[in-house]
Parts: sequence; C-alpha cells; structure tokens
Amino acid sequence: LGGYDSIAAIVTDYVSLLRKDPIFEKYATSRGTDKRARDLQLTIDYMCKVTGGAHYYLGRDMKTTHAGLGINGLEWKVNLEHLSEALNKHNVPAREKQEVLWLVEKMRSEIVEKE
Ligand code: HEM
Repeated sequence: LGGYDSIAAIVTDYVSLLRKDPIFEKYATSRGTDKRARDLQLTIDYMCKVTGGAHYYLGRDMKTTHAGLGINGLEWKVNLEHLSEALNKHNVPAREKQEVLWLVEKMRSEIVEKE
C-alpha cells in the first residue's frame, strides 16, 4: 500500500468522506476537534496494524469501540463505498484494493449491530 504515509493519506480521505456524508452526521454530534483528531489517528494506526505493519495500536478493539452506536447494514455499505472511493483516489491497484476491502469487511460483525 506504500507504507505509513500512504495509508495515512488514504484513511484521512476515507474518514473525511464519512464525516461529510449526512448519513453519518449523528455520529459527529458533540465531538470536538481533539476527539475527531484522535479517532482519525487511531483509525490510521489500526489500518496500519491490520494491513501488516509493525505498528503498535493503542486504541480499543472494534467491538468495544462501536458497541451501542447501533450502526446498521446500510451505513456499513455506504462506509465501504467511501473506503473504495478513497482507495481509487490514491490509485491503489485492483488486487491491493480488494485485499483492503476484504480486511475491512471482516470487521463487519464487530461493528454492525442492526440490519
Ligand atoms: C459505518 C461505519 C463506522 C461508523 C459509523 C463508525 C463510527 C465510529 C464512532 C462514532 C467512533 C467514536 C466512538 C467513541 O469513542 O465514542 C469510532 C471510533 C473508532 N472507529 Fe469507527 N466507525 C465505523 C467503521 C470503522 C471501521 C471500518 C474502522 C476500522 C478500519 C473503524 C475504526 C475506529 C477506531 C480505530 C476508532 C477509535 C478507537 C478508540 O477510541 O479506541 N471504524 N467509530
């Protein structure tokens, strides 16, 4: 994927697409700059870890982090579309792109709570 800088750039675009999308607006309520920066940094770190980087992730596991948010199947689908768009924007080759989408799809059962 091109190492830390490349993953950081992809995840930054992915998260900003999520944050701009009205469907995810409710998740941003009452979150200040620091909390938003923290969530972004932890998501970058987590993606580095799951894509095989020798990275120490300081955040919580996906189930604990997202428990009680009530994330549903439609939100999950839209979330993957934003990830796909961010990967395209950074010209990630088809095979690597599929791998990343598959790695994230594997997190579904830990993040999605409602159909
Ligand atoms: C529909 C999709 C998703 C939504 C709506 C969502 C929403 C959220 C929200 C609201 C938080 C803040 C929770 C809190 O501390 O109060 C959060 C944290 C986080 N999310 Fe997600 N998320 C989604 C998918 C993902 C995916 C696919 C990943 C991994 C690639 C991810 C990684 C993280 C991480 C690492 C944190 C911070 C963990 C920590 O604070 O220890 N999220 N997410």
